[in-house]
Amino acid sequence: MCGIIGFVGTTPAVPHLLSGLRKLEYRGYDSAGIAIASPTEPDIVIRKAVGKIANLDQAIASHPLEFEGPIGIGHTRWATHGIPSVQNAHPHLSQDGRFAVVHNGIIENFHDLRKQLRELGFEFRSETDTEVLAHLIQLHRADTLIDSVRAALRLVRGTFGIAVVSSCFPNQIVVARRGSPIVIGANETETIVASDVAPIIPYTNKVTFLDDGDIAVLTPGHFEIRSMENTSVSRSETAVDWDPGAAEKGGFEHFMLKEIFEQPEALENCFRGRLLEEDGTAKLSGLRLDPHDIASFDNLVITACGTSYYAGLHGSYAFEQLAGIPTRIEQAAEFRYRNPILSPNAGVIAISQSGETADTLAAVREAARKGATVLSICNIVGSTIAREAGRGIYLHAGPEIGVASTKAFLCQVAVLNMMALLFGRTRRLSNSEGVHIVHALKKLPDLIRSVLEQKDCIRKIAEKYAGCSNAFYIGRGYMYPAALEGALKLKEISYLHAEGYHAAELKHGPIALLDEKVPVVACAPLVPGHDKTIGNIQECRARKSPVIAIATEGDDSIAAFTEDIIRVPQCSELVAALPVVVAEQLLAYYIARFRGEPIDQPRNLAKSVTVE
Ligand code: F6R
Repeated sequence: MCGIIGFVGTTPAVPHLLSGLRKLEYRGYDSAGIAIASPTEPDIVIRKAVGKIANLDQAIASHPLEFEGPIGIGHTRWATHGIPSVQNAHPHLSQDGRFAVVHNGIIENFHDLRKQLRELGFEFRSETDTEVLAHLIQLHRADTLIDSVRAALRLVRGTFGIAVVSSCFPNQIVVARRGSPIVIGANETETIVASDVAPIIPYTNKVTFLDDGDIAVLTPGHFEIRSMENTSVSRSETAVDWDPGAAEKGGFEHFMLKEIFEQPEALENCFRGRLLEEDGTAKLSGLRLDPHDIASFDNLVITACGTSYYAGLHGSYAFEQLAGIPTRIEQAAEFRYRNPILSPNAGVIAISQSGETADTLAAVREAARKGATVLSICNIVGSTIAREAGRGIYLHAGPEIGVASTKAFLCQVAVLNMMALLFGRTRRLSNSEGVHIVHALKKLPDLIRSVLEQKDCIRKIAEKYAGCSNAFYIGRGYMYPAALEGALKLKEISYLHAEGYHAAELKHGPIALLDEKVPVVACAPLVPGHDKTIGNIQECRARKSPVIAIATEGDDSIAAFTEDIIRVPQCSELVAALPVVVAEQLLAYYIARFRGEPIDQPRNLAKSVTVE
């Protein structure tokens, strides 16, 4: 949540900060700001604006900066403390105007600190928790910027990723991390820091992630990491294989649409080198599990949030079906506080696109504390969850910028299916059953391409329903997580009220809401349970709800029960949810577009949820 950027080099910092902020805008977009320092100027200059980065561009164009400095920090905000406003936008200045701070995370004791600082004569200009940091650094000013920041942070409870510039120490940026990601990259003359990898890629593909408790000094082309106890710290570099264009729209109107269309390729990258056709299994070296380890699991717990949770629900079915391992799924926010029972031979699988989601990270820590083997499924290489789990699988889906998750979901399900295959082959699946599954997985990219080819048909259906206010999504078996995911996509980008329900559960209450104004999207391809779903569709029709069926090509019988049909290709049960979800993504996308909503940056949302 929120995006941090910092640049220290030899050319004016503003263009670097603004282009970095644009790449981070998906993390939060309530307001944005920059602060510039110069070795030759006694002051720090600041510009801020409410809303998107374009407004900040305008604020700078209409009030040009007093000077151009080669050192600066910037921030795009997702409000936690205080409404989106210019006063609450970061960077925040200390009372003397000599220190500027940008911050992600939450200072939990900010009320007490604020009271103490007020008693000492500090005046607050914002409602944010961050402003206390700026004043504390001024109050604890020492001989170096790093010592000043360290002294302030010692008084702080809570989480932070911060970047600080100062006109008293003008050639550097100091950054620190506890619970909120900070990534640094440097080339010969420039050092860039950000809250995620995307803005660093144009400068270098070698990035260094700070660990909790690290604090670093950045100078042009160089950085040094130390601990809060002031010992030297060394962190390894991670090579990122994204090309710089991957974080651009590439001719698509929205990142979300681009990412929907990237899915066949994302799946190919995800499968590359991992499917062993002859042996009918998967090779997932990152798990670092031998057959004996796999055989020793007596149960699995999958934990995640949001879309990743729905992928996990799909995974829980696959593990039980293919590997015969009892598997439960828990929302990460529940897992961390519920004191869950974990047997000594439990495996915990944490799923997170960003690898930074606070609740999922806390669940990982709780599971590790209880002695479980923790495995991660993340997209972002080197992210906190991936590093803390220590063993896991990367999606290789490339950067996902659209706030609504699309290609990450497909790759998460693909990875879970591969894991279930590997576990199944170690425990009870035969070679021929394994080979059959490998074939089904390998076909997926082409199956997804055939759904994408129907975009015009899906757009027409979207136009017809764009004016409705409520919708239901129903499904059974693997189509149940697909229904939940379809409803989530629609509500988050179109602001329509949508609910995903098990097709059989509808009649236990929500069917009361159905009438001719409430469409039902039925996930109804030809997979086991299809006839029962048809029965549930009839129940909806009997309440006059228009039904949009997502049905298998050639299944002509369904036409008798539905208004509109989106066709998906015939495929095996294990993978059938993925073409259905792609159809749902396009439906949600086009409905939101007809309604004129800001698809890549829906209101109130942020891409990476680093607060609980
Ligand atoms: C929905 C969406 C969110 C995320 C959730 C978890 O489209 O993107 O529901 O899935 O916030 O995020 P990660 O996977 O980064 O842990």
